[in-house]
Amino acid sequence: MIRSISVPVALLAFMATDVPAQTPSSNDSALRAFEVVRSVLQHPRCQNCHVPGDQPLQGEDSVEHNQNAVRGPTGRGAVASECSSCHLNRNLPLSYGPNSPPGSPDWHLPPPEMKMVFFGLSAGDLCRTIKNPKATGGKNLQAMMAHIRDNRQVAWGWAPGGNRTAPPATRAATVAAFRTWMNAGAPCPN
Ligand code: HEC
Ligand code: HEC
Repeated sequence: MIRSISVPVALLAFMATDVPAQTPSSNDSALRAFEVVRSVLQHPRCQNCHVPGDQPLQGEDSVEHNQNAVRGPTGRGAVASECSSCHLNRNLPLSYGPNSPPGSPDWHLPPPEMKMVFFGLSAGDLCRTIKNPKATGGKNLQAMMAHIRDNRQVAWGWAPGGNRTAPPATRAATVAAFRTWMNAGAPCPN
């Protein structure tokens, strides 16, 4: 009897110090919610501007942008080849053709010193990147969620013009998934 009591006591002590903050099932649903967020951030409509290199990407397969468009000192292009010389503050009507430059107010890339990369990262690295204020210009997760919910450039992703596809989840569903993930402690996949 003594033995059979002492073992559970040791086990209880172990459990008391090592119980994870979330139960496995809430962790699973948080990771599923993160996967929704990931599928949006790494959809071409979003990742084409969130790139590690100095050129935006374009199209459904995120290929290098034509016309030698480059990030430039502020993300707005090179002198005499600013993004705004082709990208207006709104999409052009379809009569201009499906490959005319899309537009939204102040169309540009993040600046070179804060690239806010989504493209080419594993799910775990994307997760750790958006949780790192040094990589987000100081935005915490709450601010990131508000950006996805309210920002005009982000809004363009769901109304991209031409034959461009929209991200796989609606904007409202993306914000809801972000909130679910954040409120569950924002766990990252490996
Ligand atoms: C010389 C004109 C021109 C300049 C300058 C230019 N672009 Fe573009 N851009 C285009 C055209 C045209 C398209 C549409 C290509 C298509 O859909 O086939 C495009 C498409 C894009 C796309 C892809 C949209 C999508 O999701 O498929 C992104 C992102 C983009 N441009 C970003 C930029 C940024 C950022 C700059 C400035 C650093 C810039 N472009 C400068 C003409 C230009
Ligand atoms: C035309 C380029 C462009 C496109 C397309 C774009 N973004 Fe961005 N995004 C930016 C820029 C530039 C910033 C930096 C903040 C600013 O200047 O507004 C940014 C910032 C962000 C941030 C804050 C990130 C951080 O690290 O602080 C999030 C989140 C974000 N974008 C999500 C999206 C989503 C979601 C989409 C697609 C629906 C998208 N973006 C499409 C240019 C773009």
